[in-house]
Amino acid sequence: MKVGIDFGTTRVVVAAVDRGNYPLVSFETAEGNVRDWFPPLVAVQGEQRAYGWEAWQLQGQPGWTILRSLKRLLRDAGPETVLEIGGQFLEIRQLLRELMESLRDQLCQHSTLSGGKAGAIEAMLGVPANANSNQRFLTTEAARDAGFEVLGLLNEPSAAAVEFAHRDREDAKKRSDGWLMVYDLGGGTFDASLIELGDDMHSIVASDGIPTLGGDDFDEILAELALTTFGVSSTERDGFSAAEWFTLLEECREKKEALNPNTRKVTIDLERVRADWREVSLAVNEFYEQCRPRIESTREVVNQLIAEHPERPVDTLYVTGGGSELPPVARILREEFGRRVRRSAYMRSATAIGLAIRADAQSGFVLRDQFMRNFGLWRETDAGRSVSFDLIFPRGTILPGPKEPPLESVRSYRPAHNVGHFRYLECAKLAEDGRPVGEISDWDDIRFPFDPFLQHRADLADVPVIRTSGTKSFEIEETYTCDSSGNLAVSIANKSAGYEKVFRLGRWFGKQGKVTARRARARSRAVGDGASAQERPVAHAAVARRRAQAAVAQRNDHRRALAAGMPRVA
Ligand SMILES: Nc1ncnc2c1ncn2[C@@H]1O[C@H](COP(=O)(O)OP(=O)(O)OP(=O)(O)O)[C@@H](O)[C@H]1O
Ligand SMILES: [Mg+2]
Repeated sequence: MKVGIDFGTTRVVVAAVDRGNYPLVSFETAEGNVRDWFPPLVAVQGEQRAYGWEAWQLQGQPGWTILRSLKRLLRDAGPETVLEIGGQFLEIRQLLRELMESLRDQLCQHSTLSGGKAGAIEAMLGVPANANSNQRFLTTEAARDAGFEVLGLLNEPSAAAVEFAHRDREDAKKRSDGWLMVYDLGGGTFDASLIELGDDMHSIVASDGIPTLGGDDFDEILAELALTTFGVSSTERDGFSAAEWFTLLEECREKKEALNPNTRKVTIDLERVRADWREVSLAVNEFYEQCRPRIESTREVVNQLIAEHPERPVDTLYVTGGGSELPPVARILREEFGRRVRRSAYMRSATAIGLAIRADAQSGFVLRDQFMRNFGLWRETDAGRSVSFDLIFPRGTILPGPKEPPLESVRSYRPAHNVGHFRYLECAKLAEDGRPVGEISDWDDIRFPFDPFLQHRADLADVPVIRTSGTKSFEIEETYTCDSSGNLAVSIANKSAGYEKVFRLGRWFGKQGKVTARRARARSRAVGDGASAQERPVAHAAVARRRAQAAVAQRNDHRRALAAGMPRVA
């Protein structure tokens, strides 16, 4: 069975491949209801953990702490990131794997996919267009470990474009030469992508987004507005338990989702939060006005993309993502883009359907994805007196199709050192002189023995890197490859001495401290019986550091296990 899985911040949506159709999969909840999504919730109490609909049922139960959005934390996570949830220190990769296992069990046992035929599940997975390599790696690895056969990763807006083009097939002949802009405002992220639609192949021209903006922000705005109207002071707000925040935000989400273009008033029932509070009635226009700056920031991203690519006009702005269902979103977009705005008939499921279409080799659609970051490494120049950035795969490089050979980029040189110490990074932008600027992610270093006497040393970390003329006669070749999912590897060979090593590239030992308490508090709402703000999930930097120190001894083995075929000595 083939499926497309849109692993959203607030909802996981799955579409199946069924003889040319791509139906959404419905799940049976713990209470026996039927829903066409699966909540990416994690519930923790002591050593016990529950996921998905089971975790949903535990919301508000005494002693349970709920993490609502693992995906929001993935952006800043590395494979060793540890989260503190309900007093437990848990690795993010373990939580993600268990969440995927739970999804797989649900698909096999309590969904419209079950009925004995689910068996092996081949999945095409979505990731935000601006997901970095860590997020891509963690998502793929968790799905594989959970028993899915991963067909590949596709950027979420690319998947929505596939869905658009599939339904739009009949109109294809009438299509002009213009581009399609996919506007995807989800629960926690906003992505915009400029796409060239071809007869049987679509190419992503450019993509951008706001990784921290989504429909959940509107819930927060509505909550703050309700509290202000009711006269709740900021000191009182600071004293809210996690459970109270959670209930308030759920109330706001439900009311927000019930709004339609004719709604004038919205009533928030604060009694759900505290028994002695009551309902407040708000004018929706006031709520919409407060949402406006966020919606306009998405419009700016769209305009910026259009301005950067004046080569062709944008014919259609295809609006998807549950967050776009808020009435002022389409209205504000229409102010600027007029009749080019087209709301998807499947706001919340276009991505999953597109992923399923992509999973279906029969569908005849090919989509070229592109490398979303600049990837390269620092090189010494000027006899070691300075360093410069060697750009290996520039942002915008078109990725190969799933069955095509990987992209290759080769560097050859004669070394000046005994050991090569390679420091990689990826960045969103490059300055005019080629320097990485903006948001930069450092990747793990690798070391390669230029000196053949060192070729069998398992760990070169404690071998001092020294300049030597002794290696000058060797020809070194670095071959970088990038597959259809954007995964990178390098094979470094000493061609003269006849040995090589292959490394998969990434940031396996990401800095745990990056998921800060503040961010976790703002972005991941936890609930538990009387759980205090301090008990909400935080990446506990000190604990993570201690763990990292304790893991130093095992690190090389671990790293080898992670890095495919590494080191392979020919
Ligand atoms: N009818 C509606 N009106 C307004 N907002 C809605 C409506 N239905 C869903 N939403 C909001 O859409 C958001 C979820 O959208 P979606 O399912 O596209 O996100 P996601 O895929 O989980 O997240 P992301 O794409 O950011 O990772 C939530 O904030 C939800 O409250
Ligand atoms: Mg989404």
